[in-house]
Amino acid sequence: MPIVAPSLLAADFSDLKGAVALAEKGGADWLHLDVMDGRFVPNLTIGPPVIRSLRKLTGLPFDTHLMIEKPDHLLEDFREAGADLITVHVEACTHLHRTVQRIKELGAKAGVSINPATPVSLIADILPHVDLVLVMTVNPGFGAQSFIVHSLEKIREAAAMIRRINPDVYLEVDGGIDGTTAPQVVAAGATVLVAGNFVFGSSDPAAAIHILKSAADGAKTPHRGDSASI
Ligand code: DX5
Ligand code: ZN
Repeated sequence: MPIVAPSLLAADFSDLKGAVALAEKGGADWLHLDVMDGRFVPNLTIGPPVIRSLRKLTGLPFDTHLMIEKPDHLLEDFREAGADLITVHVEACTHLHRTVQRIKELGAKAGVSINPATPVSLIADILPHVDLVLVMTVNPGFGAQSFIVHSLEKIREAAAMIRRINPDVYLEVDGGIDGTTAPQVVAAGATVLVAGNFVFGSSDPAAAIHILKSAADGAKTPHRGDSASI
């Protein structure tokens, strides 16, 4: 079964406590936290203080997606706030290897993400050092955008590279994931599904999470994806 990580970006920010409870009760494996700086992406969201408050509400792993330029000076703050997994963008880090090492030194799992126009080949040299690869399936910045179909080819390519170089790496997808695209990305090799609008825009978030978890029915993924503990 894929790991399902609802994105709080699509939740009602005046009731994050309620959203966390809905996700947890609905069977979410991780919580996906979208951090945006208004520079790397044209939107602003949350930072360490909000994550620290959320940390008190749940034991679910925090999958922290940093859409910020030059994140190095904030890594410790995010870790101390309660981030379990910290994902940075390849496009936002000049010294990606150093950034990944720092995340691991801080005791978090490290992820790297690529935007839709960034080739998968750019992650080859960092792959031995990371725990997760995030292939963006929309241009980051906003929820409820349409899945970019070309992403399927990139997911297949990333999955093949992961199998070859570091089979323990999670392959996460983010953007436009719903009941239609989830089986497609899982068949292409994705093992972690992020979904914002599909879960929190639904009148029944638990049913939506169940649909995502069922995306693998009948399909066997060739690498990690059976354990949600990070
Ligand atoms: C987009 C964010 C996503 C977003 C996905 O920049 O990284 O995590 O919440 O939203 P949906 O699932 O609505 O496309
Ligand atoms: Zn995200």
